[in-house]
This record gives sequence, structure tokens and C-alpha cells, in this order.
Amino acid sequence: MNTVMKVQKVLIIGAGFVGSSLAASLQSSGVQVCCTRRQKVEEGTVQNVEEGTVQKGEEGTVQFVLEDEETWRNLPKEVDGVVWTLPAKPLSQVQRLHDAYLHSILDEKKPVIVYGSTSRYQVDEAHQWVDEKTKKTQKEDSREEGEDFLQEKGATVLVLAGIWGESKSGQLRSPKSWIEKGYHINSINKYLNLAHVDDIVKATEEVLNRSEFRGQAINVCDGNPMLWRDITLGFGLELPATTQDPNATAPTSRLLSRPSKRISNGLLQSIMGKDYKFKTVVDPDTTGA
Ligand SMILES: NC(=O)c1ccc[n+]([C@@H]2O[C@H](COP(=O)([O-])OP(=O)(O)OC[C@H]3O[C@@H](n4cnc5c(N)ncnc54)[C@H](OP(=O)(O)O)[C@@H]3O)[C@@H](O)[C@H]2O)c1
Repeated sequence: MNTVMKVQKVLIIGAGFVGSSLAASLQSSGVQVCCTRRQKVEEGTVQNVEEGTVQKGEEGTVQFVLEDEETWRNLPKEVDGVVWTLPAKPLSQVQRLHDAYLHSILDEKKPVIVYGSTSRYQVDEAHQWVDEKTKKTQKEDSREEGEDFLQEKGATVLVLAGIWGESKSGQLRSPKSWIEKGYHINSINKYLNLAHVDDIVKATEEVLNRSEFRGQAINVCDGNPMLWRDITLGFGLELPATTQDPNATAPTSRLLSRPSKRISNGLLQSIMGKDYKFKTVVDPDTTGA
């Protein structure tokens, strides 16, 4: 049976761009949140995620370094769920942390969410559509090994596309500024798959509160992959001079190393509901994409 529960205390391992935004959102709905940082946190201090500052005299942030097992004892004993935001590698440390800490949470059928990356998918044809069933790349020492291990133990892997938006730590990730810096020049005819930080937070909260996604992987993106070319034009920016031929493709070697793919979010859309609107960086209708 699928259960809707309301988590009351959540551990967020890694309070970076997404983790800090998730913490702020959970806290605003009354959830008690514990975050981790690699930097040593003075006893009795907390990171105020709304303001991105560390304040004295409250609880909430603890030091945790995956490679430093001494810091693992700082993790709270009793939580209703865990969100793991850092890359799940190396596998040996992920396994050890599972045995030392995560297994008891998973054994109690509490949610453990691990953030992955869409670079996990093996793409055989340029512009191929990719969903959760697409074959994965097999790379040694990759984060995917850790994600697969935790998924087998019952964790849910949220497979994130390129993250954009404004985080609660005050950082901005803006596709427009990526183009202004020239990131698109060698990728103009490739697809960009994006996920707004607010949608990642909402998807995470949804999965945290529902039990039926244990052991699954779910793509998190807006479901509207767009060519860098169309995004550039959508922002009213000039295309780079050397790539104005719409039929031009990237050199084969580059295509093989970072092939163009289109990520489907069909599963996530069904989880969030058909009326849920994901944020898109430019309106696809205005670009003719
Ligand atoms: N950027 C993208 O477009 C993109 C796309 C797909 C997937 N992802 C993945 O999505 C996840 C969330 O992204 P994000 O942008 O929120 O990441 P982020 O801002 O880099 O935050 C990662 C957090 O993990 C912590 N961390 C990193 N290594 C650690 C270690 N060895 N031990 C303990 N803590 C560690 C960092 O701690 P400190 O605060 O102490 O530095 C930070 O709080 C990441 O796994 C990222 O790789 C990113």
C-alpha cells in the first residue's frame, strides 16, 4: 500500500545550492532540519539557511566529511528521512557510511533520497530521448556506483539535470550568464536539460512524504530539453559567428564524450500531477523549439 506520511525531522547531507534551499523550504513548513557542512561547526551554532549565515546559540548544522569517519558521530540518531546531496563516491566510503548509519534508517523503511546526475545515461545516438530505463554508463570510481548501491538498499535516486535558479544561500545559476560567458559555443546544436532548484526542492519533498518510491530512480528536469541555439535566441542574444549553420554538428570526438540527449520527466510529471508546471528557462513556444 502507498502511504503518505509527514516527515518531521530530516537530515540533509550537504547544505549546498540545492540542500540549503531544501532546508529553508522544509523549515518554513515546520519540519526540523539538520544540515551538514565540511567545515567545522562550533558547538551550539546553526546555519541560518534563509540568510546564508552561521548563527550562534541554535542547533541545526553539524560537521560531516564523507572521508573523515570521526565526523560521522555528529549525525543525528533519530530522523524521519535523509537527503544526500553530495556525489555518492567513493563507493567504499558510501558502503561504510551505509553500514554505520544509513542502514538503520533504511531498515525502518524511512526515506533516503540520493541526488544523482543525468550524466549516468549511456547515449548511443545524438539527441536520443532518455528515461529511467535507459542503459547506464559503467564507469569505475563513478558516483553511479554509490547511487546504485544505495538504490539497491532502498534509497530513491533523484537524477538531476543541469541545476539553475537562485538558491537560499544567495547563489545564482543563470543559463543566460552561461551563454554570455560562452559556455554554449561548442554545444550550440546540442540539447540542454535543466531543472530549476525550486522544482528539485518540490520533487524532493514529494518523495520524502510518500513511501512508494523506495529503490527507484526518478529523473528530475523540466521535460523541455532545448537546443542551446534556441535558448540563446530565446534570450534575444546573438548566435556565435562560427556556428550559425543550423546543420552544423559538433566534432565527433566531442559528441562522443558529451553526447546530446533529451531527458524525459514523464515519471516525475505523473508523481507531481499532470497540472504541475515545471519552470523553464525560456518559453519553448516563443522559440519555435
Ligand atoms: N550543478 C549541476 O548542474 C548538477 C547537475 C546534476 C547533478 N548535480 C549534483 O546534484 C547534487 C546537488 O547539487 P548542488 O549544486 O546543490 O551541489 P553543491 O552546491 O556543490 O553542494 C554539495 C554539498 O555537498 C557537500 N559535500 C561535498 N563533498 C563532500 C564530502 N566529501 N563530504 C561531505 N560533504 C560534502 C558540500 O559541503 P560544503 O558546504 O562543506 O562545501 C555541499 O554542502 C550534487 O551531487 C551535484 O553533483 C549537479
